[in-house]
Amino acid sequence: MKILVTGGAGFIGSHLVDQLIIQGHKVVVVDNLSTGKKENLNKEAIFYNIDIRASELSHIFQEERPEIVFHLAAQISVRNSVEDPMADANTNILGALNILENCRKFGVKKIVFTSTGGALYGDAEKIPTPEDYPVFPLSPYAIAKLSTEKYLDYYYKVFDIPYLTLRFANIYGPRQDPYGEAGVVAIFAKKLLKNENPIINGDGKQTRDYLFVEDAVRAAMLGLEDKNIGIYNVATGTEISVVQISDLLSQAIGVSIEKKYSPAKKGEQQRSCLDCCKIKQELGWEPEYKIEDGIRKTVEWFKNNN
Ligand SMILES: NC(=O)c1ccc[n+]([C@@H]2O[C@H](COP(=O)([O-])OP(=O)(O)OC[C@H]3O[C@@H](n4cnc5c(N)ncnc54)[C@H](O)[C@@H]3O)[C@@H](O)[C@H]2O)c1
Repeated sequence: MKILVTGGAGFIGSHLVDQLIIQGHKVVVVDNLSTGKKENLNKEAIFYNIDIRASELSHIFQEERPEIVFHLAAQISVRNSVEDPMADANTNILGALNILENCRKFGVKKIVFTSTGGALYGDAEKIPTPEDYPVFPLSPYAIAKLSTEKYLDYYYKVFDIPYLTLRFANIYGPRQDPYGEAGVVAIFAKKLLKNENPIINGDGKQTRDYLFVEDAVRAAMLGLEDKNIGIYNVATGTEISVVQISDLLSQAIGVSIEKKYSPAKKGEQQRSCLDCCKIKQELGWEPEYKIEDGIRKTVEWFKNNN
């Protein structure tokens, strides 16, 4: 199949592109390399260095005629979205709309979208949090993701373009940059490998649901099947604290370094953990990596790539 991946030079997108190519698909990558990297790009993919907001994007759709679009390109920093909500909305809402409009005009058969479960439910009372829990986005980043989810629903109902929306937990693994939702794994790994103290914000008891990137990509690949439509959490259903992440990384690296604490970040979400029963029951997906194994693979990669 001919598949277009936006954000295919990024952390998750590049792993997805690799997997699509292994499975024999023709892959077109659209990425402006704002956080993505050339070295992440699979050499067998056709690459366009272009912004998802550009009007010239239509020439690429016309030329390449993708059957499926995986839309991953985004401004991914929650903190940046708070500082500059206009810039965030520009890429994450208007950019997404430009993709959707091109999908409509050029007969794309399906869209797969990477949303966020970590940021969408806010400080939920129900943990793990299922998809039907009321969303309470607490950042412009999460609001923009929710807005794109709603546009996808509209394009499906009105223009009959099916979609699969994946509400990812905090994804970690090789090629990760420190800026995204699970950036703490990358930041701490880099520090510990240099024998430096990782700085923990607050008491370090805040929790997240950490999913290894290969498991996330396996979930995204489900989008290739026509019947897989709708909104799904993609997660482990397990809460891990920042202190635990620090300990797991120290063990994997084989160092014992005193932890340093700094004042808590104002407004930081305390707990996040997603219920992944729906995707397990309906699409047969569940995580394969234990956190220890994912962390070990991540550490290996940072050792060899820094
Ligand atoms: N990493 C996580 O924990 C996590 C969790 C939930 C959702 N997501 C979502 O998954 C997707 C991929 O995230 P990631 O962690 O791989 O981040 P990433 O920054 O590595 O990937 C994003 C890619 O999009 C590209 N990009 C950004 N703005 C662009 C623009 N205007 N035009 C063209 N390309 C542009 C970047 O260059 C980069 O290659 C994002 O949509 C993100 O919101 C990530």
